[in-house]
Amino acid sequence: MSRYLVQPVDSVAGVIRVPGDKSISHRALMLGGVAEGTTEVRGFLESEDCLATMRAMRSLGVAVERPGPDEVRVQGVGLHGLAAPTQSLDLGNSGTAMRLMTGLLSGQRFDSELIGDASLMKRPMERAAQPLRQMGARIATHGGRPPVRIAGGSRLSGIHYELPVASAQVKSAVLLAGLYARGATTVVEPAVTRDHTERMLLALGAEVDAVRGRVRLQPPRTLRACSLDVPGDFSSAAFFMVAGTIAGGAGLTIEGVGINPTRTGLLDILALMGANLRIVRHRSAGAEPVADIEVRPAQLKGIAVPPHLVPLAIDEFPALFVAAACAAGETVVTGAEELRVKESDRIAVMAEGLRALGVDCEVLFDGLKVRGSADRGVFSGGRVDSHGDHRVAMSFVVASLRAREAIEILDVANVATSFPNFGGVARKAGLNVEELA
Ligand code: S3P
Repeated sequence: MSRYLVQPVDSVAGVIRVPGDKSISHRALMLGGVAEGTTEVRGFLESEDCLATMRAMRSLGVAVERPGPDEVRVQGVGLHGLAAPTQSLDLGNSGTAMRLMTGLLSGQRFDSELIGDASLMKRPMERAAQPLRQMGARIATHGGRPPVRIAGGSRLSGIHYELPVASAQVKSAVLLAGLYARGATTVVEPAVTRDHTERMLLALGAEVDAVRGRVRLQPPRTLRACSLDVPGDFSSAAFFMVAGTIAGGAGLTIEGVGINPTRTGLLDILALMGANLRIVRHRSAGAEPVADIEVRPAQLKGIAVPPHLVPLAIDEFPALFVAAACAAGETVVTGAEELRVKESDRIAVMAEGLRALGVDCEVLFDGLKVRGSADRGVFSGGRVDSHGDHRVAMSFVVASLRAREAIEILDVANVATSFPNFGGVARKAGLNVEELA
């Protein structure tokens, strides 16, 4: 089982880039696959999760070429051109792929079955299946979990759906099924979640009406292929925002990061904690806003994280908990029970890792209280188990910037699901991380 060995280092500096956005890369493959014509994608994230989606789309009869690094060319087959797969579609570690595919496949003429790795096979799928059944889809789960079996040939109708949980995956699953429905589909969210699906549907010519927290899609006759630029993934940049904040040194510039406001809750949370982050060189990559992020060292202070920021920072809590350990006083996160059903139970797994490194924290049913310290050597060093969760593994690499001894992080192969060259980028920033088999 692969692991990281990270030696303490106390400063970072330089200019780095992070790979393409995972959420947008998945959507480019799926929506490009059912558009008319060729979708050229630049900045595509070649990670295990997105490659699983690529294999699934190929199994559905979509030709996907890879003309160069980080580039894909998707030969769209049109909304009704997907072909029946000859076997189950294996979506690896990716909850996004499975939930969005469930929506897309609900409107097809053929049957399909979705499976994944040990982590994905434990994750809740009824949250997507239930609204899709209301639309007329026939979907079976195994006690709420994968395998997900979708019967073909259902006639879907548009619905008005009020999401019980703030989930961009469920919203997107319903919208993808809505492409095949009779009548408009409306999704209302309890809190704003990432809107990449809506933006990409608009770019492909669909009629989407999105106002804060409410999206209405008219089923289009066709989607028109276009070229798509994928910005750097804010969630991958997050590790370096925390690194540049808690380390000494000249700080970091992270270039070309997607700053879609439905993703940047961490900027607000770190600002409340006293971080020194500047967003510069605003520009756009097609439908998505992009900028460079400059981060300088700062002494953080503990805060109560405002619950409305939780969905806007949902993937950033492992990194934020490391920042919280380096903040003077207590940081309290509540309203974050969704963290329990991510690639791991991120509340339990982060608490276990923080305690293994000598940090005092208290598990809440919906969050975590972390009692931080302004000392240089906040973390003792030692061994932590990432439980196969990519973001947990990367967060504890960042902890080495305030550790007294080396940190060994177990079960890190899944870092490749979202950030294939994390070790290389981390070393470029100045961290001392070694990947061991
Ligand atoms: C994602 C939505 C979020 C997020 C995940 C990616 C997406 O999940 O945690 O990493 O691409 O739509 P939920 O919808 O379950 O909150």
